[in-house]
Amino acid sequence: MHDTTGPLERQSLVGVSRRSFLATATAALAAGRFAALPVEAAGPSMKDAYRGAFLIGTALDFRRPDEFSAAELDIITSQFNTITPENSMKPGPVHPQENSWNWTPPDALVGFCEKNAITVMGHTLVWHSQTNPWFFDGATREVALQRMRDHIHALVGRYKGKIAGWDVVNEAINDGGDATTAATENLRTAPWLKTVGPDYLVQAFKFAREADPAAALHYNDYNIESGPKHQSSLRLLERLKSEGAPITTVGIQGHWSVARVTNEKLDDIERAIENYKALKLKVAITELDLTMTGEGGGQLGGGGRGRGAAAPPSAEMLQAQAAAYAKLFALFLKHKDVIDRVTFWGLNDARSWRAGQNPLVFDRDNQAKPALQAIVEVAKRG
Ligand code: G3I
Repeated sequence: MHDTTGPLERQSLVGVSRRSFLATATAALAAGRFAALPVEAAGPSMKDAYRGAFLIGTALDFRRPDEFSAAELDIITSQFNTITPENSMKPGPVHPQENSWNWTPPDALVGFCEKNAITVMGHTLVWHSQTNPWFFDGATREVALQRMRDHIHALVGRYKGKIAGWDVVNEAINDGGDATTAATENLRTAPWLKTVGPDYLVQAFKFAREADPAAALHYNDYNIESGPKHQSSLRLLERLKSEGAPITTVGIQGHWSVARVTNEKLDDIERAIENYKALKLKVAITELDLTMTGEGGGQLGGGGRGRGAAAPPSAEMLQAQAAAYAKLFALFLKHKDVIDRVTFWGLNDARSWRAGQNPLVFDRDNQAKPALQAIVEVAKRG
């Protein structure tokens, strides 16, 4: 279902060493004097540069008919070939009460994507957050599972054939961890776990497969590429597979910071991709953003974030962000045999959930930041 046809030949980077791909990324940066540019002046689009390797996505919602400016619509249609709804298909917004659905924003998103030949990825069916309490009110295990099944069948069924894949379970593993938790799945004590038990994840995947036999089915989480949480993710995925969950893909969210893209982190990400591949799973980078300041991480709350306007970044910060994005995309390209999508979490810095930290490749004025050219250059150099 993915749009992977196009003019660029697939160029195998399998076997390319870390030194070689880092050199590619660095050379890409050195070659250009990248500055913020109008999107039409920034050269080939990301989706064209990576056509044949993987899809390039953004996350957004059509909350109102006039949600996006002409400049934003131009970026959406010229740069991206896949869209994830940032909020509008989550259980809370889309299904506030058992007999009440908000179909208008998701229908608008799916309609826009159909019109513009953009692949839709659904987000998210089962989560500890943004899930209304009615799912669990007075519920036995059987009642909660029936509500989960009804929810998944109604939502996935409505868009069957129109949504290429779903984040079936989101963020089931606890933050942090240590040597002891690393040997376990370290599942969050979320309402689904408490009401149904640890097989709630397997059930969710089975319900999603019943509702759409063709969709890619993801487990999606943040910080699963490193440390004890990575080990827990392997335990969990091994169990899901052994219990017959029809999972196809692991979503590494990719909420990172520029400072955090070190060689050690790149090694972690590469090892995680290889470990998931060894489990016969595909990998998607589902929520990529690189904050210029403060910490990364996908968890809500915490210090150093902020949705307000940020001070304009310095030229050095823009270059550092471009260099970090280039290194990541060189790594993703090296593993294009297993990576089928890289989605940015948001359209531009103004709309980002971390607007105060300028994490995306389009700035508040919809100008292409140096990162965009650096990312495209990595693909051109192969
Ligand atoms: O839509 C309401 C609006 O009606 C209301 O007036 C306003 C007042 O606060 O809130 C609006 O809802 C907000 C919503 O975003 C839409 O803007 C919620 O408060 C806010 O909590 C919500 O934040 C979202 C967050 O998930 C919580 O679900 C972010 O936009 C979204 O980017 C973020 O995305 C998550 C992924 O789903 C999972 N991985 C981590 C990632 C970042 O936290």
